[in-house]
Amino acid sequence: FLDKTLLTQLLTLISLTVALDNGLLKIPPMGWMAWERFRCDVDCQDDPENCISEGLFRDMADRLAEDGWRELGYEYIIIDDCWMSRLRDEQEKLQPEPSRFPGGIAKLARYIHDRGLKLGIYADMGTHTCMGFPGTTLDKIEIDAQTFASWGVDYLKFDGCYSNPVEQMQGYPLMSKALNATGRPIVYSCSWPAYLGGLPPNVNYSLLGDICHLWRNYYDIQDSWDSVQGIIEWFSDNQDDLQPAAGPGRWNDPDMLIIGNFGLSVDQARSQMALWAIMAAPLIMSNDLRNLANSARAILQNKMIIAINQDPMGIQGRRLLQEKSQIEVYWRPLSHSASALVFLSRRTDMPYLYHTSLAKLNYDAGSYEAYEVFTSSTVTGLNATTVFTVSINPSGVVMWYLIPQQKPRQSDTLYDQHKKASQFMFHKAKPGHSTL
Ligand SMILES: *[C@@H]1O[C@H](CO)[C@@H](O)[C@H](O)[C@H]1NC(C)=O
Ligand SMILES: *[C@@H]1O[C@H](CO)[C@@H](O)[C@H](O)[C@H]1NC(C)=O
Ligand SMILES: *[C@@H]1O[C@H](CO)[C@@H](O)[C@H](O)[C@H]1NC(C)=O
Repeated sequence: FLDKTLLTQLLTLISLTVALDNGLLKIPPMGWMAWERFRCDVDCQDDPENCISEGLFRDMADRLAEDGWRELGYEYIIIDDCWMSRLRDEQEKLQPEPSRFPGGIAKLARYIHDRGLKLGIYADMGTHTCMGFPGTTLDKIEIDAQTFASWGVDYLKFDGCYSNPVEQMQGYPLMSKALNATGRPIVYSCSWPAYLGGLPPNVNYSLLGDICHLWRNYYDIQDSWDSVQGIIEWFSDNQDDLQPAAGPGRWNDPDMLIIGNFGLSVDQARSQMALWAIMAAPLIMSNDLRNLANSARAILQNKMIIAINQDPMGIQGRRLLQEKSQIEVYWRPLSHSASALVFLSRRTDMPYLYHTSLAKLNYDAGSYEAYEVFTSSTVTGLNATTVFTVSINPSGVVMWYLIPQQKPRQSDTLYDQHKKASQFMFHKAKPGHSTL
């Protein structure tokens, strides 16, 4: 239903706009967002602890600052839908609902900044937000960008309910320009591709990478393993389109981490964390940090997984194999010739003994050391041809961080490694090669 000529004209227009290349998000963002756990709970009468209000965001900021999260990189506190008043003010500015945000957003931003954290906020390219609050139509983009900057906002999630693809084609780049024009460095998270089906030719990832720091490709995550599996499957089935789009300053966003809520077992929570690290995904939790099981905390605060996720080369990983046994193998190349492997079981019976070798996963000859990420055990002296066995729980993972035991050649600077890896990742269909 799109007019091709109009789209082409718009694209030409857009390619002349200023890119939002302000050096932000060279590694995927980490933090906390309200939506999946707290939704549009506006009932502060009966549910004062959990309703969308300044108290909720202050509580979560306290937890990030005091419980060791901030030091691990979790720094963004992001407000989602339902923070607004139903009406703009006399100057047409968005304003928070006064009963739930009596101090206003600027004051909340100061509270968050005082704790060494950053504030994210939500708006919608369209006539209304998804939950029916005031939208940001094309004529309001500039004023809304200015308002957010004046409040000290550091991150904008720009949703796409109640607009059509032609309006989105104008609005998303315009907001990028408008944010840039405020002079305040603001992370720009676009929901645009999700509203276009997430894939080329509807979605132009090169354009998205120019204007957004991250983008939601696919449906909202829900609190269930089905939802997590569906997301992993979609991202992997479409990795040839999605994987090359990611890199420093431009990230695919498979949506929030739901670890610590109600829907995932411990094994499934490990699986989500492992796959999000492989996918170079934003690590944005949506859970109740005031009441978090120790098992969930240990997964979310696992330093090795975080380091894998935050690897500075920023190359998104791939699914290498889908075995008939319902075991899947995922791989991500990392700095210093290291790599990560994830063995995921989609089985529903019992722990499965999977036999393979690094050579079968296309690793180069040589020996390797592997660290098991969740048990902190080490496997030394792995020859590429050594057949090894991993025991993978149903809907669980075994995750390895691998380093080759001989050093990379002196001439291989990080740049060379990146280039080789990129060539491999972007131009070859067949998976796996450990010498970057
Ligand atoms: C605005 O865009 C220019 C050009 O890409 C960039 O150098 C600058 O850092 C950006 N400023 C902000 C605040 O985003
Ligand atoms: C995608 O966007 C880029 C601008 O970043 C543009 O140069 C290119 O022509 C677009 N591709 C298509 C197929 O429209
Ligand atoms: C790996 O093992 C094979 C056979 O076991 C052996 O021939 C080869 O020399 C070994 N390579 C290394 C680097 O240890």
